[in-house]
Amino acid sequence: MSTTADSPFVRQLTVTDLPGMVALQEAVTAKLPVGFVRSKTESEVRAYLDGTHGIAYGIVEGSVLLAISLLRIPDENHPNAGLPFPLVPEKDWSLCACFLENTMVLPAARGRGYHRILLRARLSYAASAKMRWICAGVHLQNSVSWTNLLAKGMAIAGIRFDLGYPIIGLLSSFDALALPSDSNNQVSIRAQDPWQHQAALQDGYIGVRLASDGAVIYQRLSSRGMRPTTSMRLKVSQRILNRLHLRERALFICQKRNERNGL
Ligand SMILES: CC(C)(COP(=O)(O)OP(=O)(O)OC[C@H]1O[C@@H](n2cnc3c(N)ncnc32)[C@H](O)[C@@H]1OP(=O)(O)O)[C@@H](O)C(=O)NCCC(=O)NCCS
Repeated sequence: MSTTADSPFVRQLTVTDLPGMVALQEAVTAKLPVGFVRSKTESEVRAYLDGTHGIAYGIVEGSVLLAISLLRIPDENHPNAGLPFPLVPEKDWSLCACFLENTMVLPAARGRGYHRILLRARLSYAASAKMRWICAGVHLQNSVSWTNLLAKGMAIAGIRFDLGYPIIGLLSSFDALALPSDSNNQVSIRAQDPWQHQAALQDGYIGVRLASDGAVIYQRLSSRGMRPTTSMRLKVSQRILNRLHLRERALFICQKRNERNGL
């Protein structure tokens, strides 16, 4: 991105940006399919601008806001509630898992890489805030959004249907060994078929990348630090399967309780 005075740049948003953010939310959500993103109320947005619930970044050009994004950061006063996001260990859940939320780019400014820039800014902040896990929920049909997250190294770790449409849960960790998967054990999933995603997840796989034909490649989760033999893999996969069932329920329940968790 160039740095001349009026060219677009990324910056942390503050309370003075609140009116611009509310206007941008209205402009973006007016034409979106149900479930792509939920507008936050003014007081919810303010809690990111004043640091109560996290941080907000935007892309600005002169005095115009072109794009916004939020990162929810838990702390002792506002820990993550309910059961953990799929695959996030119980011990990390309340204080070490942050959420990518509400990225919105004005229609005229899309396709310029702003989503990816805002993603980088938030990941960098999450690392400095000592978060271990980054979570996001995306409507399955919102492929522009989730393919960007996959390309940045996030994995599809869960899917929920309770809102009336499929939402996939994407997860990554700053610990490169936290989500080990076996590149010798892959399945190819039709990107827009929620039931195929669900079946792969229930079978102990995570979605790791997009194939050239547009399918999502899933790899079986492997146990930390070793490549399991077939018999070990059976044991491991049963354990992971049980854990996935629990965590998938957790995703449903905790996100239902707290809509902030999802989008
Ligand atoms: C999803 C969204 C944030 C993406 O923002 P963006 O700044 O346009 O994204 P980027 O430019 O960083 O990346 C977009 C990628 O998707 C591609 N893309 C953009 N618009 C596309 C479209 N309509 N169809 C297909 N691909 C598209 C781009 O080409 C780019 O990929 P490439 O660089 O490999 O070519 C934006 O479309 C948006 O605001 N949508 C409405 C709100 C929303 O759904 N937010 C996400 C909630 S989870």
